Amino acid sequence: MKKSVIFPLAAALSLLASQAIHADNNIAMQSGCLGCHNATTKLVGPSFKDIAGKYADQEGIVDELAATVKSGSQGGKWGEVPMPPSPASLENIKTVISWMLTHK
Ligand code: HEC
Repeated sequence: MKKSVIFPLAAALSLLASQAIHADNNIAMQSGCLGCHNATTKLVGPSFKDIAGKYADQEGIVDELAATVKSGSQGGKWGEVPMPPSPASLENIKTVISWMLTHK
């Protein structure tokens, strides 16, 4: 392929990738996760970076964490503050967690 073909292709791919990130960010916002979680800083809950650092690469972890988020966490894993059960759909919760886990 010539450069003139590769460049627009690369540009289109990176645009697609950034749109995917925005979509995940929107779902996280709509699901109410961003009130307590942030990419790099601990707010009420651990940052995406801390979550990814602890769990990324573990098999079946998305399903496991999604179940925790759906039913809530008593606290004690990251601090004394509990996480209330999430009203978001399990599908959206899984999407957000997969996205969180890319923030290593
Ligand atoms: C009201 C604040 C709050 C909201 C809203 C919230 N979280 Fe949390 N989250 C927390 C706290 C606090 C913890 C730590 C709980 C603990 O230490 O057991 C936590 C922990 C987690 C963990 C780690 C669980 C573990 O087993 O280690 C994940 C993953 C997570 N949250 C994802 C989400 C997602 C996805 C959403 C949105 C659907 C969300 N959270 C919404 C406060 C919140």
